[in-house]
Amino acid sequence: MLVNESPSEMEPLLQVRELKKYFPVRSILGRKKQFVKAVHNISFTLYEGEVYGLVGESGCGKSTTGRTILRLTDPTSGEGVFQGRDLFKFSNREMQAVRKDMQMVFQDPYSSLNPRKRVGKAIEEPMAIHNIGQNQRERTEMTMELLNKVGFSMDHYYRFPHEFSGGQRQRIGLARALAVNPKLIICDEPVSALDVSIQSQIINLLEDVKDQFHLTYLFIAHDLSVVRHISDRIGVMYLGNLVEEAQTDELFSNPKHPYTKALISSIPVANPKRARERIQLKGEIPSPLNPPKGCVFHTRCPYVMEICKTVAPVKKNVTSQHSVACYLYDS
Ligand SMILES: Nc1ncnc2c1ncn2[C@@H]1O[C@H](COP(=O)(O)OP(=O)(O)O)[C@@H](O)[C@H]1O
Ligand SMILES: [Mg+2]
Repeated sequence: MLVNESPSEMEPLLQVRELKKYFPVRSILGRKKQFVKAVHNISFTLYEGEVYGLVGESGCGKSTTGRTILRLTDPTSGEGVFQGRDLFKFSNREMQAVRKDMQMVFQDPYSSLNPRKRVGKAIEEPMAIHNIGQNQRERTEMTMELLNKVGFSMDHYYRFPHEFSGGQRQRIGLARALAVNPKLIICDEPVSALDVSIQSQIINLLEDVKDQFHLTYLFIAHDLSVVRHISDRIGVMYLGNLVEEAQTDELFSNPKHPYTKALISSIPVANPKRARERIQLKGEIPSPLNPPKGCVFHTRCPYVMEICKTVAPVKKNVTSQHSVACYLYDS
């Protein structure tokens, strides 16, 4: 965690500005072209060395945001300024070079590991692609060292992915991401598929290597309680929109958006006497094919007003580091 440092004193590593990603889809009748509005005009900044948690229910656009930053999918519009240059304008070749600086850790690392390849080789592969290490021998030594950093011994180098448990595979996925010595790692629900007892081990490991390798994380999760521990700041997404952003403690102690309040109130507490008032959201998340007019949250908001149904609220500052897009907050 960062102490005594406000983001304004830190260097921005990545500035995402008005990012929009619409996926074209054909309607069943095939006539009208429709769009899944996966991400709608979101802006946020990642400062060097911080952990930024991005949370929201499944389908709200978190993975699309991460994948667009890595240009695994192209944005519809917006800017992604990484170390001063707009990634979204990079050629494939330039992007290839910058991929060394930005890695992703997935929810299910098994799907990204070749089942027939020894894990040591899988970790080494990106090193060879990016010309890291003088020769094969040096790369193997570096890989052994990385395996050690994520808690394995040298002989794990020769094993195959199926010989590892889910949590162990996640550690392999992390070693693979670390192999190219990146600046930013996008962790996309890295613990969501794991048992609760293993989740904290992986989170602790992520924290350890973050300090050792001077990393910045974009940490994606659908569960606020998972990002709470590791994040310096948190952005809350709902249906493609970033509805609130604040430092972690501020978000939990002074949430402004009814959606954030609902997410917080749904976290189980150990002591029932300290239970917060539960805010039940009505209905289902609307489809991103046809998001509600005005505030996208209005169909489920317990405090909905007339204006919410027609005009989308603009983002307002609660403090210099806390912002919210909701009419209930009047600055
Ligand atoms: N390649 C795609 N084509 C069409 N729709 C997509 C594609 N990828 C994601 N989506 C849609 O975009 C929305 C956001 O998805 P995603 O970013 O995966 O959400 P999250 O990671 O928050 O669960 C969802 O409605 C999803 O179905
Ligand atoms: Mg996702």
